[in-house]
Amino acid sequence: MMNFDFYNPTHIVFGKNRLTELDSLVPKNAKTLILYGGGSVKKYGTLDKIIQALPQRELLEFGGIEPNPKFSTLMKAVEMARRESVDFLLAVGGGSVMDGTKFVALATTYEGDAQSLLTHGFQPVPVETALPLGTVVTLPATGSEMNSGGVISHKGGKFPVFSPFSFPKFSLLDPTLTYTLPATQVANGIIDAFIHTVEQYVTIPSDGSFQDRTAEGILKTLIEIGKKTLDEPTNYDARANLMWCATNALNGLIGAGVPQDWTTHMIGHELTALFGIDHGKTLAILQPSIWTIRTEQKREKLLQYATRVWDITTGDDESRITHAIEKTRAFFEELGVKTHLSDYGVTEDRLEEVITALDAHGLTALSETGEVTLEVSRKILKISL
Ligand code: NZQ
Ligand code: ZN
Repeated sequence: MMNFDFYNPTHIVFGKNRLTELDSLVPKNAKTLILYGGGSVKKYGTLDKIIQALPQRELLEFGGIEPNPKFSTLMKAVEMARRESVDFLLAVGGGSVMDGTKFVALATTYEGDAQSLLTHGFQPVPVETALPLGTVVTLPATGSEMNSGGVISHKGGKFPVFSPFSFPKFSLLDPTLTYTLPATQVANGIIDAFIHTVEQYVTIPSDGSFQDRTAEGILKTLIEIGKKTLDEPTNYDARANLMWCATNALNGLIGAGVPQDWTTHMIGHELTALFGIDHGKTLAILQPSIWTIRTEQKREKLLQYATRVWDITTGDDESRITHAIEKTRAFFEELGVKTHLSDYGVTEDRLEEVITALDAHGLTALSETGEVTLEVSRKILKISL
């Protein structure tokens, strides 16, 4: 196991009927800006319940944060937060709203050019403070509710933004708020959590036994409950388990002290930026291809994955790995998510645009070893068609 720091200050408030507790979670005298997306929180009554739970407060609203939140939209919220001298931000929504709110938290107090906050990749942005924020999660997927990262879209690219100042102070996770999700978003969320887990697990062996067994627990749980969460949208326990898996897949726990490989996410972000494919769906397209192309480098962990996650114990190494990749693809397809680029109308002549974008964003040496060059990415994309 490698050396690591683990720091996670987010207070998780989990369970049904807990929105009323917002009154004790949001600081009493704080002028609070509630941020949300395209309207689902209004349509399904969540916003009303939140406002009721915060009586005698100075509350402001900023709606319209789109999926894959845009820098230009978020800067309008930054202007509002500055103009109104807001003290606290409350994100109500999925990953896009939570990520967008984190960016607003950082940019509001930042005195330099806010665009420069998009240029630091996985390194913390150079800030000393941010507005405090909390979240109410309506879509289990990204883990944004318990991590310090966000992904912001700007001028045809998607840019990670990290800072220890953007951890939510609290996140309220009520699985019943996810009952209204369209099936396709639930499936996206299951796949996002699944891929976050394998990108910290199917790498190279490093004797992180706790991390491995925990990752396997998350993966097996997602496989067990995946179909049920779709077939029975109001099955509380299925939704609760999905929600807690999604949070733990990306709160730093399973990735501490072990190698990580974010190839799937980095290429996936370009597919979203160029073709508008949902984040979760880009991952379902790419992951089977990445494992097929990089079987050699990932052989040991792929075999462990085959045995411990899919219970594949017979056959030679090659056939067990192939079988595990097929099972993974079948799982995604069973959730109703197509796993080929052609299913989304992307044709071979568009692949060079992805390579050009990867190049422009400096993503030319991806993976746990840095061996995923543009040439390897090209191969991955070709077999993803
Ligand atoms: O905008 P509204 O009207 O609220 O509708 C949303 C949106 O259209 C809808 N929705 C959310 N909760 C709902 C609901 N509809 C009905 N009932 C509910 N309870 O779902 C749609 C998608 O929402 P979005 O927030 O975009 O989805 P998701 O949570 O998958 O977030 C995706 C974003 O997160 C980033 C992605 O890149 C993408 O921008 N990620 C953030 C990460 C992080 N911060 O750690 C890591 C991830 O890998 C990911 O990159
Ligand atoms: Zn993701």
